[in-house]
Amino acid sequence: MLDLRAYRVKEKSIAVVGLGYVGLPLALSFARHYRIIGYDINEDRILALQKHVDPDGELSTDDFEGTDIIFTTQLEHLAQASTYIVTVPTPIDEFKKPDLSALFSATHTIARVLKKGDVVIYESTVYPGCTEEECIPILERISGLHCLADFKVGYSPERINPGDKEHTFTRIMKVVSGCDEPTADFLAALYGKVVEAGIYKASSIKVAEAAKIIENTQRDVNIGLMNELSIIFHSMGINTHEVLEAARTKWNFLPFYPGLVGGHCIGVDPYYLAYKAAKLGYHPQLINAGRLMNDNMAAFVAKNIIIALINSGKDVRQAEVLILGFTFKENITDTRNSKVADLVYELQSFGVKNITIFDPHANASMVQKNYRLKLASQYKDRQYDVVVLAVPHKEFTTFTEEELKSLLRSPYIFFDLKSVYFSIRKNFNYWSL
Ligand SMILES: NC(=O)c1ccc[n+]([C@@H]2O[C@H](COP(=O)([O-])OP(=O)(O)OC[C@H]3O[C@@H](n4cnc5c(N)ncnc54)[C@H](O)[C@@H]3O)[C@@H](O)[C@H]2O)c1
Repeated sequence: MLDLRAYRVKEKSIAVVGLGYVGLPLALSFARHYRIIGYDINEDRILALQKHVDPDGELSTDDFEGTDIIFTTQLEHLAQASTYIVTVPTPIDEFKKPDLSALFSATHTIARVLKKGDVVIYESTVYPGCTEEECIPILERISGLHCLADFKVGYSPERINPGDKEHTFTRIMKVVSGCDEPTADFLAALYGKVVEAGIYKASSIKVAEAAKIIENTQRDVNIGLMNELSIIFHSMGINTHEVLEAARTKWNFLPFYPGLVGGHCIGVDPYYLAYKAAKLGYHPQLINAGRLMNDNMAAFVAKNIIIALINSGKDVRQAEVLILGFTFKENITDTRNSKVADLVYELQSFGVKNITIFDPHANASMVQKNYRLKLASQYKDRQYDVVVLAVPHKEFTTFTEEELKSLLRSPYIFFDLKSVYFSIRKNFNYWSL
């Protein structure tokens, strides 16, 4: 019988498998109420966490205070848990197909220590059907146990928004589901103790998986539409920002904006849904169109930078370009699937050699390792032919007109992708999405 009491009095413990952007805040929140085993295969990460340092820079030392948690890479520690929460990455491969290797590997690991009466909860984002069709068979095969009869499985998608200090783990309504009703109730009680925003019980694991994936698919398709509008309005000489300001005066106009869609959620999850749909014989039109549109925006921006340089009589090969921001969105450290990298590669393909990239939040050695691009340690020491405000970190949103101009040579070509400086556009050779 699934009994939360044993966890509340700490007779049983919970393992969180994968301590990244999702797993760590979850583990620390749970560790204020339950005994937690924080498990990860990355030794460096575990060493940092043991010293109460979050390698991703999202949480502070204070967030570790008052928690009942051990950080480990050891299977024998993992074996002490009775509930396992899986929060490992689910990216795409080079062909934009789901890469489930971390999910399967974590499932194998858990299966090796799974006991009768245990519960496995998946939080990683997957396509509908993945938990039941892929993960449960691995758990059964390796452990020799049977789902429902011997152990239970639940799914509860994570909805955190990196860098968002308001919508944190405990302040977002949690969707839970289970392989049977008692398991769904168990998840509801387990998360209900921690999540202040409330619990929503989905009718099945597949429904919960699908709900998560469409949240990001909806955003992707809508941003894709804004990006398409931006391309159209550029060819018409209309500013998209001004159009959107006017349109949003209607009560039911949805507030989406054009932009580079990077990261590992909005730009990845729709591929999971499209993959599963295609496997079932349906090739999504809108979903794939949104992906295609958003994946090509960096090339559109690069083309316009080249046009602006040529139109102002600059030699593209000698031009000096400053790019401000590299992370996949503002005020975070995460550089996964950065579309700014695409922008740089695209500019390089046109022959632009002198590109300075500055980002006070990104980890320079990670950028070097993953993208073979060098981040500058400073940028104010000279002038540039173009400034591209790619990611409006807070450090980049308070420039005065004079400060911006001091970075630029005449004719002040300023690519302000997200229209942060729209109000002073007339004093620059200005471009925004
Ligand atoms: N980051 C977000 O904002 C966010 C939001 C909602 C959902 N998600 C989803 O949550 C999941 C986790 O994403 P993330 O951003 O936290 O990933 P992450 O890369 O930040 O962290 C994953 C952690 O898992 C560890 N790991 C990898 N394989 C492992 C294994 N076999 N056993 C144990 N640990 C392993 C890694 O070392 C890493 O520390 C993904 O499915 C993602 O799509 C992420």
